Amino acid sequence: MNTRVLTGITTSGTPHLGNYAGAIRPAVVTSTQPGVDAFFFMADYHALIKCDDPARVARSRLEIAATWLAVGLDPERVTFYRQSDIPEIPELCWVLNCVTAKGLMNRAHAYKASVDQNEAKGVEPDDGVTMGLFSYPVLMAADILMFNAHKVPVGRDQIQHLEMARDIAQRFNHQYGRDYFTLPEVTIEEEVATLPGLDGRKMSKSYNNTIPLFEGGAQALRASVMRIVTDSRAPGEPKDAENSHLFTIYRAFATPAQSAAFRKQLEEGMGWGDAKQFLLDHLEQLLAPMREKYFDLMANPGRIEEVLQAGAAKARKLATPFMAELREAVGLRNLSVAVSQDKAAGKKAKGKGARFVSFRDDGGFRFRLLAADGAEVLLSRPFVDPKEAGQYMRRLQEASPDELLQAGRVTVDGNEIAVAPADQDASEWTARLREALLSLPRD
Ligand code: TRP
Repeated sequence: MNTRVLTGITTSGTPHLGNYAGAIRPAVVTSTQPGVDAFFFMADYHALIKCDDPARVARSRLEIAATWLAVGLDPERVTFYRQSDIPEIPELCWVLNCVTAKGLMNRAHAYKASVDQNEAKGVEPDDGVTMGLFSYPVLMAADILMFNAHKVPVGRDQIQHLEMARDIAQRFNHQYGRDYFTLPEVTIEEEVATLPGLDGRKMSKSYNNTIPLFEGGAQALRASVMRIVTDSRAPGEPKDAENSHLFTIYRAFATPAQSAAFRKQLEEGMGWGDAKQFLLDHLEQLLAPMREKYFDLMANPGRIEEVLQAGAAKARKLATPFMAELREAVGLRNLSVAVSQDKAAGKKAKGKGARFVSFRDDGGFRFRLLAADGAEVLLSRPFVDPKEAGQYMRRLQEASPDELLQAGRVTVDGNEIAVAPADQDASEWTARLREALLSLPRD
């Protein structure tokens, strides 16, 4: 079986260079590897937790979808979809909510951070905390478990969420007695650059220090690169490449040989202005062809919509039957199916025990008792009335064998029903008959 690699990206922002180097690019590379089934999706339900501006959410979904397609994600090969197009995900989320300990969620970093901030401000601990934020890890577990992902590449800040997804999966599997869910493993790509932003801190929307990937075009890219903070060493002075985030950004997009050459130039005194231009030219060369595709897609949102609808259909081919199985597991079943299944189960149990067979011969109406293995253990005397034969069968079924059996004879209310065949040992026959009577279904 192929390895299922799944990851999601929250649609609340505009992709920047850090997202590209840290998440998008490595994910696309992974998706082209043999033996990998990749599932990439837009976590737009998660976006609602962070962002209450509908225009922003809508715009971000479009930008992120266009970005993934522009950088070379092949939607034929990858299952590429929006979370909100898969109704089974919130459905599963509810089921998982019902096995998730509240105490587990109390320990989630994102929630605890909000509580800490509130305490520092001297307001109610849960001030401004929605149930969405609180149960965020359960929705994320549903994203992952819905497709039984083996590996989930994420940033370090998501490790705890993966541990919670495993915990929730285990609880469900234990509760419902079968390994419905694969336990997902987190993958942190050590190689992947955490890109510094303009000011040297991690590139992040919340620090307002990002370099846009495509939005704003070449101009915006230029404007950002020119704002990268450097030290005050003048042209001609040797630069400390290792401690320059301008160099760190370059290195994330260059071959080792290119990086070595750039480092040498910096150490030999290249001015920061020239260094910025050098970085800009390098990025522009890399990004321009993808940017062109990006704007082409942005101008044709219907094309993106079509790709995503096809992706949703592909994802639901897996999600719909799996959710049906999970509904079954927890007891949310079609009533008529449930009843006939129980009947079938009953029949099966009956099939394993002894049974009566009635028939008619020259002497009248008789019945046989067949043991579980089908061997005849009793042949009744003939009865004139078939109803009488039926009554005796019922009595044999209801009464305790001790009431009915004497050595080599079966009697019901004083009436002899059968005797041991002449060719069989009476006590052996009685023992077998006793066993068969005990295995008759009692309803
Ligand atoms: N919480 C993730 C983030 O902010 C996004 C996400 C949502 C995700 N669901 C997921 C990532 C499932 C991996 C798997 O980065």
